[in-house]
Amino acid sequence: MDLEMESFFESAPPLKERDIISEKLKQFIQNDDTNRRRVVCVTSGGTTVPLEQRCVRYIDNFSSGYRGAASTEYFVKAGYAVIFLYRRGSCQPYCRSLPDNAFLECFEFSHESNIQVRETYSEAVKRAIRDHHAAVERGVLLKLTFTTIFEYLQILQMIAVTARGLGPHAMFYLAAAVSDFYVPWESMVEHKIQSASGPLDIRLLQVPKMLSVLRKKWAPMAFFISFKLETDIKILLEKADMALKKYEMHAVVANELLTRKEEVVVVTDNEKISVHRDKSQAGSDVENPLIELLVGSHSTYIKDSNT
Ligand code: PMT
Repeated sequence: MDLEMESFFESAPPLKERDIISEKLKQFIQNDDTNRRRVVCVTSGGTTVPLEQRCVRYIDNFSSGYRGAASTEYFVKAGYAVIFLYRRGSCQPYCRSLPDNAFLECFEFSHESNIQVRETYSEAVKRAIRDHHAAVERGVLLKLTFTTIFEYLQILQMIAVTARGLGPHAMFYLAAAVSDFYVPWESMVEHKIQSASGPLDIRLLQVPKMLSVLRKKWAPMAFFISFKLETDIKILLEKADMALKKYEMHAVVANELLTRKEEVVVVTDNEKISVHRDKSQAGSDVENPLIELLVGSHSTYIKDSNT
């Protein structure tokens, strides 16, 4: 496994802005006088696998980023500092109640030809700006972005290694949909693949599962939550259980594609807890009770680690 991992990182194209990301991470993580601040890394959105070095075509992984964005808001509310590692262009914290095309739909010209917020969106825009700015100004939200599987895993490693000093106060909440197969950089063609050459045969290698090394080597004291997504409900809990044991996660959140916004099951060593959206509340989401539950488990973990 270590060899696979090494060869993955060795073959990955160098991360752009590595030094800038590293500096941002150090400042964010050290921005704490108390040494008691809880920091969670929330990963969100799908990673891509490029097929060409000058990439025109790629394989994508499904994830809108809603789960990660919503969870980030609830973690901030619960007092966490959040490193939001997200797929470029996916859903953002504090923007969930805005329309997709927010910039064009929320604003209009006033009589004096100034730009103003449309009345219908006024509350949502105010809330989004206020809460987002407050989180950034208080130093509790750092956003880092990825597109490819290479960028995702390199940045995740940097976060884990930088957060190691936080011990049990660090949490990893791995909601991103991560590619299982990839084309190694050195065997990838440089230029756009030509369709005139006929049908395309590509050999994809398996992306080494990073959960093991993340948990055991990069940040061994941190609290780990991974996700299990399936489309077949019959195998979901069994697969979540397997992941829990194999990667020694503290909890695995099991979700089925079609019902993922209504219900998830938190699988731990001792129990399986079903968490639902509160249907009696308009605009409620499943992330609210989910984060409440996980924050409680993290508190117990910190307490147990200190005794
Ligand atoms: O973004 P939304 O539209 O709101 O949807 C949310 C979600 C369905 C994407 C999310 O809840 C979810 O389930 N995310 C994980 C999806 C996924 O990749 O599942 P998986 O079964 O393929 O992988 C399981 C775990 O292994 C993941 O935590 C992943 O980070 C990890 N993994 C995967 C591949 C790999 N090579 N290495 C890994 O460590």
